[in-house]
Amino acid sequence: MTAQILDGKAIAKTLRAEIRDRVDARSAEGTRPPGLAVILVGNDPASEIYVRGKRRDCEEVGFHSNFQHLSTNVSQLDLEERVVALNHDSSIDGILVQNPLPGHIDESRIIDRIDPRKDVDGFHPYNIGRLALRRPSLRSCTPKGIMQLLEHTGVAIRGLDVTVIGASNHVGRPMGLELLIAGCTVTTAHKFSKDARASVASADIVISAVGKPGLVDKDWIKPGAIVIDVGFTRGEDGKLKGDVVFEDALERASWITPVPGGVGPMTRVAMLQNTLIAADGRIP
Ligand code: GUN
Repeated sequence: MTAQILDGKAIAKTLRAEIRDRVDARSAEGTRPPGLAVILVGNDPASEIYVRGKRRDCEEVGFHSNFQHLSTNVSQLDLEERVVALNHDSSIDGILVQNPLPGHIDESRIIDRIDPRKDVDGFHPYNIGRLALRRPSLRSCTPKGIMQLLEHTGVAIRGLDVTVIGASNHVGRPMGLELLIAGCTVTTAHKFSKDARASVASADIVISAVGKPGLVDKDWIKPGAIVIDVGFTRGEDGKLKGDVVFEDALERASWITPVPGGVGPMTRVAMLQNTLIAADGRIP
């Protein structure tokens, strides 16, 4: 079997064009463009690249954007006050504080400060709670993007066995909640799991979000499985690597996401979708 490629880059491009159409329609109605605020703290090179990408995305879809680049030494209080000011800024519909934050900043307290209706990352306890209760509001971006990738396969996923590897707050946990809503049987494997490999090997869908290149190889993948690779690690050769041995998955899986160009663009477009939902006042 040769897997089909789930081309997140191409799918995200189509979705951005749909967002652009909606922004143009709003403009024709005399409604202001959706506004996204991004706060970047410090000089992490990877974060600077991500934020540059978000700025480009905003330009492409016609969003108003407000980028603040703050010193690594910014205080907890200063950062919280900036978030609160953005909560009250009527030109801003979405607020995103780029991770990782410096060690002296308590990330949870920053997320808690964001108005849940402007939490376009979908990280706020309110939004995670809504997802857990099957009443999703603003949904976490990577899981939201992955659900759209799964939809793209045309495979009916209700009742399928899914193993998510990784139990992070931002990906693994909300991913499991999304899949439960979709009617999947979900296993979350993590660093204390006795036999992660066995649960992956029996899964119809594998979603790996660990950040360990080469973790998932041929022996882990059930023939015909859908393989979603959230891993995004820069190797010593400077190349970006996923968690999955791509050539192995290509031989065994029915669908596979490439790295780069799979999940990453879908995470970005999900954040734009959330900002548009917030701007349109369509938050459930
Ligand atoms: N750092 C890397 N990806 C993300 C993201 O999607 N949101 C935030 N807030 N920080 C990130």
